[in-house]
Amino acid sequence: MTDNVFEAEGTLIVGAGLAGLFTALKLAPRPCTVLSPEPIGVGASSAWAQGGIAAAVGLGDTAAAHALDTIAAGAGLVDETVARFVTEEAAARIFDLLDYGAPFDKDSEGKLLQSREAAHSASRVVRVSGDQAGRAIMDALIRTAHATPSIRLIENVVVDDLAVADGHVVGALARRTDDPMASPVLFRASEVVLATGGVGGLFAVTTNPARVRGQGLGLAARAGAECIDVEFVQFHPTGIAVDRDPCPLATEALRGHGATLIDEDGHRFVLDTHPDGELAPRDIVARAIHAKIMAGGTALLDTREAVGAAIHEEFPTVAQYCKEAGIDPAQQPIPVRPAQHYHMGGVKTDARGRASLPGLWACGEVAATGLHGANRLASNSLLEAVVFGNRIAADISSRAAGSLRGPVTLPDPVHGPAPRREPTNAIAALRKTMNDHVGVLRSAKGLRTALRQIRKVADAHAGGSRALLNMTDAATLITAAALLREESRGGHFREDFPEPVEAQRTRRPITLTEALKL
Ligand code: SIN
Repeated sequence: MTDNVFEAEGTLIVGAGLAGLFTALKLAPRPCTVLSPEPIGVGASSAWAQGGIAAAVGLGDTAAAHALDTIAAGAGLVDETVARFVTEEAAARIFDLLDYGAPFDKDSEGKLLQSREAAHSASRVVRVSGDQAGRAIMDALIRTAHATPSIRLIENVVVDDLAVADGHVVGALARRTDDPMASPVLFRASEVVLATGGVGGLFAVTTNPARVRGQGLGLAARAGAECIDVEFVQFHPTGIAVDRDPCPLATEALRGHGATLIDEDGHRFVLDTHPDGELAPRDIVARAIHAKIMAGGTALLDTREAVGAAIHEEFPTVAQYCKEAGIDPAQQPIPVRPAQHYHMGGVKTDARGRASLPGLWACGEVAATGLHGANRLASNSLLEAVVFGNRIAADISSRAAGSLRGPVTLPDPVHGPAPRREPTNAIAALRKTMNDHVGVLRSAKGLRTALRQIRKVADAHAGGSRALLNMTDAATLITAAALLREESRGGHFREDFPEPVEAQRTRRPITLTEALKL
């Protein structure tokens, strides 16, 4: 039990990536408190986004065409109403970001430059310096947030649990990440917005920062929030295959630029499985690369002809990753492998970003809004974060300034001091299990093995690390949902059910209680 209670003025925003900061800025001048588990700007996936933000702002492009591409990519499960309003609101949110200082690339006439990415019918990705969109947008938002008096930023604090009173979310239990012996703190707030990011760190090979590991999904599910689409995990086809954790990313914009995927014989092998080759949907390209590697071959991203020496200027992040691995991409093709990249599923929200528990909203990758269906279209993730950040801020602002509810029921088991160290061996075992059995290819046998192994890790640490509990709860949800979906669709591919089944073309909610029974 904690004696430390902090009355967070106004709304509590858990997470300081694009979703959290954009919501905070849009809430201004209504007060909010933003919690970041690391120094602000470090460790959020948004800052690592290379491609940019999809928005139909180019000549001849339309929001309707963008919506259609989003719906097609989502393999039958996109909520079409959501796809329409998100793509329609995209241009306004790009202008908001420009106002906040995002330095998007422009041509000599001041028009926004846009990249092409897979499964988009137009060059529609607003970008910065080729591959630095996420970092540049985050830097601009952080500067603006620091200059906004209504935003209180608190660094080095991670949330482990939601606090609930009378069925309402009324705050969150948090602890310092820079002082493991500090007592937990209860942040009480009139509203809580979860913006904790995705689940990458649950997998051994991921493009996400290490701390992004399903904590928001786990703690929300444990508090009873409805979760949906959680079996749909996206694997990026072109993680750079060097011995590095997290796995560096070679942006899809390179393939949009004409880079090819070849094997050791120079054969463009993706063309064998899909006529669009390198620009086929992400799940198809990822499976083709996975199959090549499983068969003992090598997958290489060849940028030499399409980009050449310009890669150093046009894609500086990728060029730097390659340099650090001793690869000169102007001279040599880049070895690649699929890497966990994005979670389509999460905490179910409505069009205002409200979760099923009163008092709780979810924004960004932790949320499942219905935009992505079974497979997200490239560069729609930052877009979803800003469109829903704006909607959530509008929804909260329309409420009377909230009074704090009480008394608060603390989650069971009662919080004790955090263990001094994270259980690193257990986390490594969990990540290997998820990669091996809940990855690009899945089967009932592998998923059942994964559920057993996750349970073993959870049982061995019962009553211990809250961070590990959030990870095992999130892993259990994803694995159970993957077991229950006996078909293949989008990012979810079952070797034992390799085709989509029309009768299963439905978004399925899952509870932690249901998942733990499997
Ligand atoms: C990329 O740059 O390839 C990633 C973009 C995205 O995931 O939307």
